[in-house]
Amino acid sequence: MSRAALSVLGVALGVALVVALAIAADVRAEPGATPAQPAAVPMQPAAPASAPVADTMAQRMQACVVCHGPEGRATNTGYFPRIAGKPAGYLYEQLQNFRNGRRRNAAMAHLLQHLSDDYLREIARHFATLDLPYPPARPHGLTPEQQALAETLVRQGAPERGIPACTACHGSRMAGRLPAMPGLLTLPADYLLGQLGAWRNGVRRAAEPDCMAHVARALTPEEVAAVSRWLSAQTLPGGTAPDPAGATGEPLPMACGSGLR
Ligand code: HEC
Ligand code: HEC
Repeated sequence: MSRAALSVLGVALGVALVVALAIAADVRAEPGATPAQPAAVPMQPAAPASAPVADTMAQRMQACVVCHGPEGRATNTGYFPRIAGKPAGYLYEQLQNFRNGRRRNAAMAHLLQHLSDDYLREIARHFATLDLPYPPARPHGLTPEQQALAETLVRQGAPERGIPACTACHGSRMAGRLPAMPGLLTLPADYLLGQLGAWRNGVRRAAEPDCMAHVARALTPEEVAAVSRWLSAQTLPGGTAPDPAGATGEPLPMACGSGLR
């Protein structure tokens, strides 16, 4: 494990307990969870019919801000991944994966252990609906050869080695594709390196067939490094949503189990 990953783990373990308590308390305060409430405060004016569910959720999700940044739009440096604007199907699946061990992260597993699937779905929907600006592009520091290697993989893949273009699944602009392909641009390079490494050594697994495990294992270490740094340094114009499912009319180049649950 890299030093960055270790220090992340330290921070994560430190705040996880506090955060878990905050979320658990908020779950109990969820509207509808305390049916006796109206009788207990009869003079209170009735809540407006269009109760601001999103605001309530935003408030509860303050617990995630410590690590994932304001409204879940982490920066492109450090380790914590952006979660804002990723497809709900993807986010839901990851929350489940941390809980059931397909992905390993002590803080995330701890936070989610007592939350129901319905609540995880609500959390996923909340972050998926956020449409927030991406961090600006920054220099990637790659040599021209490394840059060409990264761009070729992203846009064309390496068909002779069975690697489809990343865009074939992650969307024409790499902003994701519904229902469950995440956007990759502006994620921190260390996070991307960590995820591709985790797939290569079996620590991260997606629902079968795990197409991403196949892709990650087919890449060389040099390719993983170049593509991670390139993806991290790009940006996207504001208002960029994931591609709709089947936008190009092209089927996926490989079967993927993600998003089928
Ligand atoms: C203590 C720090 C911490 C807190 C608090 C935290 N997370 Fe995380 N989260 C992480 C780390 C670290 C990762 C990446 C783990 C890995 O390497 O796989 C992560 C990953 C995720 C992912 C997967 C992202 C992706 O692109 O695959 C989701 C979704 C997520 N967190 C949601 C949440 C939500 C929702 C909350 C609040 C309820 C939350 N997290 C609170 C540290 C945290
Ligand atoms: C055949 C489809 C497919 C192709 C091609 C593909 N991916 Fe993926 N990728 C996926 C799926 C599906 C997921 C979500 C897996 C899950 O549910 O955990 C994913 C997730 C990822 C993630 C994790 C993102 C996060 O937020 O944690 C990274 C990193 C990634 N892909 C990198 C790449 C790169 C780099 C390429 C091109 C070299 C690529 N992928 C090509 C299907 C694909």
